Amino acid sequence: MAKKREQWGSRIGFIVAAAGSAIGLGNIWRFPTVTGQNGGGAFVLLYLVLVFLVGIPVLMVELSLGRKAQRNPVGAFKTLAPGTLWKWVGAMGVAAGFIILSFYSVIAGWSVAYIFKFLLGAFTGLSPAGIAQEFNALVTHPVIPLLWHGLFMLLTAGIVVLGVAWGIERWNKILMPMLLVLLIVLVVRSVTLDGAREGVYWLLRPDFSQLSFASVLTALGQVFFSLSLGMGAMITYGSYLGARENIPGSAVYIALADLAVALLAGLVIIPAVFAFGLNPETGPPLIFLTLPAVFQRMPLGGLFGAMFFFLLSIAALTSAISLLEVVVAYFVDELNWSRAVAAPVLGFAIFLLGIPSSLSVGPLAGFKLWGMPILDFKDWFTAVIMLPLGALLTVIFAGWVWGRRRALEAAGGGRPFVLADFWYFLVRWLLPVALAGILFSGLSR
Ligand code: PFF
Repeated sequence: MAKKREQWGSRIGFIVAAAGSAIGLGNIWRFPTVTGQNGGGAFVLLYLVLVFLVGIPVLMVELSLGRKAQRNPVGAFKTLAPGTLWKWVGAMGVAAGFIILSFYSVIAGWSVAYIFKFLLGAFTGLSPAGIAQEFNALVTHPVIPLLWHGLFMLLTAGIVVLGVAWGIERWNKILMPMLLVLLIVLVVRSVTLDGAREGVYWLLRPDFSQLSFASVLTALGQVFFSLSLGMGAMITYGSYLGARENIPGSAVYIALADLAVALLAGLVIIPAVFAFGLNPETGPPLIFLTLPAVFQRMPLGGLFGAMFFFLLSIAALTSAISLLEVVVAYFVDELNWSRAVAAPVLGFAIFLLGIPSSLSVGPLAGFKLWGMPILDFKDWFTAVIMLPLGALLTVIFAGWVWGRRRALEAAGGGRPFVLADFWYFLVRWLLPVALAGILFSGLSR
């Protein structure tokens, strides 16, 4: 007799947990960065359109597959298409979870370290060059970043080991409201700075001359990463849903929450950067280098800085939980491990896999894969190759293998839903073409 599968305790608990997975480094670090590099308002508008046209439909597909199969990504494809190669799509998702978490946790570790740096006044009085030195001293150290990475993995595994309702759901319900409060305080602080208005305009006023085909692809990649799509995280979270839950409605809430946090994070970072006359186009160091420069010039900056990195760490933790859960669910469902063993053992394995990522910023900087340091390679390989490929194959499965009747029935739980035909049209035609496009351009970069 199979054990009864765990389930979410409530609909709202599920939505908060899925939003917790979606809202992460992708919203607070990556979104303002890519918006900064792609000209502001027009990119925001483009992103908005793609969330509705691509993000929500793919999210509905993943949640429906998971709910129908009541299994981890590998088991889901095995159940829905027995004896075929489709299970390898699930396997690629589990592998992606393993790899993404191994560098995600390293960056999250830096964020946790920054909370303490701000509280201890490590940036007080430093010039931008001094801040850069402080950042480099942290990330290039051979041991210290590993301790933060280890601490972060310990927290992640410590929550996942408690199970779906009692661990993942309960902790998301504690952490996500904290995140929202911190975010609102920081938005108010940022937009009320002298000179912030320019930044708000820059973020909201579309200048379409700044958009290129490459921005479309960047925006699409951002949609996937931000909504945790293409690697079975949402298949896994969907597998803990009961038959009667409304998937289309939940998908809209999850995507709107994710979008709102990305926009609010933009409203924290960009106006503050403008107010202090700094450049929003600096790319990835924006958060770890430019922001400390902003905070240390405002009154109570140490406190606001600590708040910001606490917020970032919470966002990363609730996403890391979902990444680890994908891997844990696979070992529990398919290999009959107990959760009590799977969470710590796999968490430790991911910690080990993260060590080269961490060292690749310091002592191993000379070692390159495909011309990139290990951490950048893992980021590129997962975000540009594995997630779009996973999402592409998943929509092909729903649109062409599952087919219209089964797809509509799985998403609606047997009931009709708004725009059902449009959704299926996107899944069968538009999305496969669009996703094949990203993947191709990613490969030919
Ligand atoms: N959505 C997360 C973020 O925006 O930071 C990252 C992520 C989490 C990607 C979980 C994939 C995933 F399965």
